[in-house]
Amino acid sequence: MLGAIDHTGIAVASLDESIPFYRDVLKLPLVHRETLTEQGVEAVLFDVGDSHIELFAPLGPETSTARFLDKHGPGLHHLAYRVDDIEATLATLAAAGVWLIDTKPRVGIRGSRVAFLHPSATGGVLTELVEGRPSG
Ligand code: CO
Repeated sequence: MLGAIDHTGIAVASLDESIPFYRDVLKLPLVHRETLTEQGVEAVLFDVGDSHIELFAPLGPETSTARFLDKHGPGLHHLAYRVDDIEATLATLAAAGVWLIDTKPRVGIRGSRVAFLHPSATGGVLTELVEGRPSG
């Protein structure tokens, strides 16, 4: 049902302060930058092998990412899996009683379709499903 790990999501206070470490020290190619108004974040993607690191920063203090940073500080935020058919995957998980944050996909980074599973259903890991592989 799940493909590869599509990306690991890392919450940061400032993209401009966080990008240089990944780009210049770890030498990961920065391949995309996008403001996702609906999700209240600006995000970037770095290629790492066939997967990605997603850094994202809040657009304002009322966003869920700002609340996350207030509570936990910057760091690991979510894990995203590739799926071929996000509706079918959500239906299978719903039938299994999994607590879904999104019962329908929403638009994610680089035109992907995404949905989140509640961390209480996954051993404490906020989990994202991604259909439409964000590459290239
Ligand atoms: Co993500």
